[in-house]
Amino acid sequence: MAKIIDGKAVSEQIREALKKKIETLRGKYGSSPGLAVVLVGDNPASQIYIQNKRKACEYVGIRSYYHHLDIHTPQEKLLDLIHTFNQDPQIHGILVQLPLPKHISEEKILTSILPEKDIDGFHPLNVGKLVSNTPGLRPCTPAGIIELLDYYNIPIEGRHAVVVGRSNIVGKPLALMLLHRHATVTICHSRTLSLSSYTRQADILVAAIGKPQFIRGDMVKENAVVVDVGINRVDGKLVGDVDFESVATKAAAITPVPGGVGPMTIVRLLENTVQAFESLITPNP
Ligand code: GUN
Repeated sequence: MAKIIDGKAVSEQIREALKKKIETLRGKYGSSPGLAVVLVGDNPASQIYIQNKRKACEYVGIRSYYHHLDIHTPQEKLLDLIHTFNQDPQIHGILVQLPLPKHISEEKILTSILPEKDIDGFHPLNVGKLVSNTPGLRPCTPAGIIELLDYYNIPIEGRHAVVVGRSNIVGKPLALMLLHRHATVTICHSRTLSLSSYTRQADILVAAIGKPQFIRGDMVKENAVVVDVGINRVDGKLVGDVDFESVATKAAAITPVPGGVGPMTIVRLLENTVQAFESLITPNP
């Protein structure tokens, strides 16, 4: 039976350390990190994510400013709002929850955020820094997954990591981070032919597909480490992209849903906000 990778417990430890760090920073600089959070529309899943992010901010002492905009808000209005956050010295991080309504260009919005305040790591400049493996703000979910693997001393170097899913938020950046940690990386996606022939080779298998319980035990190698990024609601119950029961009998270790990757994403957002605060308050000469 697989060992359970407890993202909730790890995230709580990191959160406590972060809370202390923010206290120290407040003593040193006389101010604390501030995060602007924007939701356009009423996507119920987004509302829950945002609520959890704001609660976590409050716990560690990050000031969060929530702006809930009507679904019909014009793009220009959102751009104006981001501009005011860019200029505001009390705001160190800007988070625009995705997905956005169809009439708003995600690319335009993400590019308008000051790269130094882009705590999601979605601005093209930060994406470029990730690709070239130079310091910068990194997307929260993949960075949280690497932190979780490191916490459990799961070796990455030389291992075959198979990432199923190629989104800009998770699959693509995670594949790059694993590559920078010297894994051999395969990216699979919805058009991959004979998917299981790849997943069965994985020492580290990451499921970021968005299909409930898609990865079954017969698709997984004996003693693999399985990371489940999925959050799907089935009959009112949260399930991942991995069929936990059948995969847990084969894997060496597995992240549960809930309590695996999700809490690590949130704590990484807090860490990124502190990173942005520190870089803005002590700019490089
Ligand atoms: N939607 C799903 N995941 C994320 C995330 O990490 N950041 C933002 N801004 N939106 C998301």
